[in-house]
Amino acid sequence: MSSEHVSRREFMSTCLTVGEAAALTFLGGHHVLAGNRPLIIEKHAPGTPYKLGILGCGNRSKAHIAALNGVPEIEIAALCDVLPHKMDERAKLIPKGPVPRKYVDMEKMFQQEDLDAIAVVLPNYMHKMAVIAALQAGKHVFCEKPMALTVADCNEMMAAAERTRKAVQIGTQRRHSRGQKTAVEAIRKAAVGDILSSDVNSYRGDWRVPAADEYPPGVQYWRMNQDQCGGVVYEMGAHTIDLNNWIFDSEPVTVASLQGVNDLALRRRDSTDHAGVLVRYANGALMNYGGNLYARGPSDPNSFFAVNATIRLSDEALEITYGHASGIPSKESLPKPVKMELPKGDGTNDQWEYFAQVLAGEARPYPDGHAGRQSIQICQGAIISARDKTIVNVKDLA
Ligand SMILES: NC(=O)c1ccc[n+]([C@@H]2O[C@H](COP(=O)([O-])OP(=O)(O)OC[C@H]3O[C@@H](n4cnc5c(N)ncnc54)[C@H](O)[C@@H]3O)[C@@H](O)[C@H]2O)c1
Repeated sequence: MSSEHVSRREFMSTCLTVGEAAALTFLGGHHVLAGNRPLIIEKHAPGTPYKLGILGCGNRSKAHIAALNGVPEIEIAALCDVLPHKMDERAKLIPKGPVPRKYVDMEKMFQQEDLDAIAVVLPNYMHKMAVIAALQAGKHVFCEKPMALTVADCNEMMAAAERTRKAVQIGTQRRHSRGQKTAVEAIRKAAVGDILSSDVNSYRGDWRVPAADEYPPGVQYWRMNQDQCGGVVYEMGAHTIDLNNWIFDSEPVTVASLQGVNDLALRRRDSTDHAGVLVRYANGALMNYGGNLYARGPSDPNSFFAVNATIRLSDEALEITYGHASGIPSKESLPKPVKMELPKGDGTNDQWEYFAQVLAGEARPYPDGHAGRQSIQICQGAIISARDKTIVNVKDLA
């Protein structure tokens, strides 16, 4: 289907050009934009769920199905995977609604007329192709992180969203986690002053190796392949880097990195399993990210160093500790330290509740392609920096 094609469904049903004030006022929607152009939203009657197809029924799809089981506004109406037994297993996790249709060919799923949206839960290197094809078939898209492997791919995906006027929401779920939202709000309100630098990390020892049923002997699992996966910065780093981008609230400008493969048990991999990444942002702040996929112990909390305070943030807690600059006498009393336990939940459930609002035309996709691309600017910049032993200017990646 061409990108300019308006489907029969769009034409015949309540066709909402969101942003057209009169229609929106009538239907109680809000002004929603994808890039510069209004989204085309097909609002369903109350009680009629939006229909979603899940593309990729691997490990991550289990968490999405569990979350979606608690979101009555969205029905899982289709599943797609090249391995049929995976669809069968996932279908058993869906207790509500009609049995989803199953496809081994994604193009066939995209042709299912009544699907409103596609969740792209495929290996990283397939995101761009699948997202653009789904958009061109007239579907809204939820795309797992990382958005893509290169900035150029992100640009193409954003252009497709703009052209088709469909939503693209990226699956960095921390942006919807109640805990992290509470923390970011508290940081923004606190008298910490400018945040000058950060020391953030993702150390994970629970990274799974390929299950025998997935790939025949001799076929490398995509996570082990640098070109298909991107390595640790795209895997775990994408979450932490996105959190950092959210807190810094500035554009990345330069990137430097060293990376490699250390883990002896997973030596067959050529995707990097450890990395250090330094990023300078437009507002002058500096991120220092460290990640590996072989740590057996817990990660450290992320630390943010502001003019007046040090902020420590984990999934469970936020601490803000104020101090005077050493060596400069001050009689001013310090604000009280903040010690806050954060609400639980990684945001996976909340991101789907939010996506239901996007489908209804009541919210903008969030995080959107811009936020997704910011992470990729850093991830791709880090790969090039480590490979070429240079400092990468983000503007050269576009
Ligand atoms: N947001 C998060 O916290 C989070 C967590 C884990 C994974 N992810 C992301 O989710 C994505 C999937 O990860 P995963 O752990 O589920 O991987 P996985 O390897 O377990 O699953 C991928 C699935 O895609 C299927 N597939 C491959 N090619 C296909 C094709 N052409 N058509 C249809 N299906 C095809 C595979 O058979 C497999 O079932 C990745 O992008 C990953 O980065 C995100």
